[in-house]
This record gives sequence, C-alpha cells and structure tokens, in this order.
Amino acid sequence: MNNNISFPATRLRRSRMNNWSRNMVRETALSPSDLIWPLFIIEGENQREDIGSLPGVSRMSVDLILKSAAEAIDLGINCLALFPNTPPHLRDENGSEASNPDNLMCRATHAIKDKFGNKIGVLTDVALDPYTSHGQDGIIDKDGQILNDETASALVDQAINQANAGADIIAPSDMMDGRIGAIRRALEMNNHPNVQIMSYAAKYASAFYGPFRDAVGSGGLLKGDKKSYQMDPANSDEAMREVALDISEGADYVMVKPALSYLDIIYRVKSEFAVPVFAYQVSGEFAMVEAAAKAGMGDRDAMMMENLLSIKRAGANGILTYFAPQAAKILGK
Ligand code: PBG
Repeated sequence: MNNNISFPATRLRRSRMNNWSRNMVRETALSPSDLIWPLFIIEGENQREDIGSLPGVSRMSVDLILKSAAEAIDLGINCLALFPNTPPHLRDENGSEASNPDNLMCRATHAIKDKFGNKIGVLTDVALDPYTSHGQDGIIDKDGQILNDETASALVDQAINQANAGADIIAPSDMMDGRIGAIRRALEMNNHPNVQIMSYAAKYASAFYGPFRDAVGSGGLLKGDKKSYQMDPANSDEAMREVALDISEGADYVMVKPALSYLDIIYRVKSEFAVPVFAYQVSGEFAMVEAAAKAGMGDRDAMMMENLLSIKRAGANGILTYFAPQAAKILGK
C-alpha cells in the first residue's frame, strides 16, 4: 500500500455522476405554477401585432387574449399579468383613461373572468404610464415633476376600477410613496376585501425596460427618466425599507424587479421578511436571451431555464416572465 497518495475525504462529484443521483440531490425545482405570464392587449378583433424588440411576444386583442388564457390553464400557469396598449387618442396629461370602467384592461379582465372564473388569476398593473401622453407613471406639474399624492389618488381610482372589473391581484408598479396603504383602504371600503395586492416594492430605475415600453407604446412618448420614483440600482438597504413599508401598508406579496441583476435583493427580501416574494424577469432580460440565442451565442431554452431556476433559487416564490408558456411546456404539468 502506498501511503503517499492522498485521497479527498469527500468527493462531491460522486452524486453528479448520474442523472438519477443528480435528480435526487437537486435543491431547487421549477414548476409551471411558479410562472406568471404577462400579456399585452390591443383594441380590435382577431388582432395580433409583433413587438420588434420582444421576439415571439405579441400584442393581442381581447378575443385572442382569451385563447392565451386557455393555453395558460392548459399549461398549468396560475396567473396572467395584463398590460394595455392604449390607443394614442385616449392618452392624456393625467392618464384619465386608467379609471374608465370600459378601458381595454377592464374589458380584458371581465372577459377572462367571465369565461374562466377561478381557473386562473388575473393580475392588473396599476400605474399611469400606458395612459399618459408623456409616458411617465404619474401626474406631472408644469416643470415635469411627478406629484406623489395626486398620483396616489389617481392610482386608487385605477385600482378600484380594476377590482370592479374582476381583477384578482392589484399590482402597483408606479413606486409612489404611500400608495399601497391608500389602495388597501379603498379596496376595503369598496367591498373588495379579498382582492390581493402584489406591490412592485423594490422596482429599480433599470435600463432593461425598453422593450416593454415599446410594447405598451409609452417608450416614444417618454421624456426624461424615472429616477425620481424608481430605485437607484446601487441600493439594497433602501429596498428593505420599501418592502417593510409595503407589507405594513397591506401588501399580500412583494415584488423585486428586474430579476437577474437583483438576485441579492430577492435573497435579502426572502430572508429578512419571509413573505411571498415575486420577481419580474423584465423585457430587456428576455430580449437579451433571445438576442444571444439568435446570434448563436448559446442555446435559448437552456439559457432561459437557467435564468428562471436561478431566480427561484435566490428565493422567489414566483416569476413574471415572457418565457412562461415556453418554460411551462418544457416543465410539463
Ligand atoms: C411601468 C412598468 C414597466 C414595466 C412594468 N410596468 C416599465 C417602466 O417602469 O418603465 C416593465 C416590465 C418589463 O420591462 O418587462 N409601470
């Protein structure tokens, strides 16, 4: 026996040798029920428009949105997130179309709920940017400053309007101070005690939202940036304060957005608050994977699944992602 050969005390590679043992020790698993599918709505019937910067994603009229809802149910996806592309003539300074009970968002919500009831949840986005003529998420003064409290009050009207249309989850993505509490109180007072709130609690002023702004048609209109309300990507403690406030104001779930550049924030929120945490893999993150795959730089499905798994491993209970149907197909029910 040669005593000079040293052996590793532990061989972590042993369990990696075969698929069966890799399966046995896997710590994180994705399932279709982790996925929330964002959909873009347009006017008309049987209308489908491609979005150049979001390959494979389209804006759809309400009748086609219903087909996507049926597909989602079939795939085991639990929830749809709706975003309207408001016709230009209905956009104004104050985003008043947001509280029109007959707006695109409300019609789509009604249609999904009428047809599918509780087979699938509907999450509606609360923010004024798809409705304003200037593309900002709030009401602005003459100098272009976003007015916090005036905006919060408009968001309350928008949220009640969506709840009246049948929305299951109200998702404020605007980042005004105090809006979660104001919306929660208004829901209670307007007979919607069971309507849930998913707050975009830690939403960063990110460079990865561009394709989304094309999708809802606000990108070309936007003057300036959103740094006076969305968070500085440099900050982490501040995200904890945002999350703490939204929970204390009555949010059922909190969201971190974007996802991949903010995995540390997802991890911190999950560890410090132990509440359901959702992450939004945003349009630019989706587009990057698509662009890399198209350029031959990697396998699209493999990159997609690795990104989604990483977001879940970081602590997300669920993920809003444009990949939802493709990923759900791969995962099976
Ligand atoms: C705006 C809103 C944005 C997204 C969701 N809601 C963009 C923005 O803040 O400008 C981005 C989603 C994405 O990029 O996929 N209220």
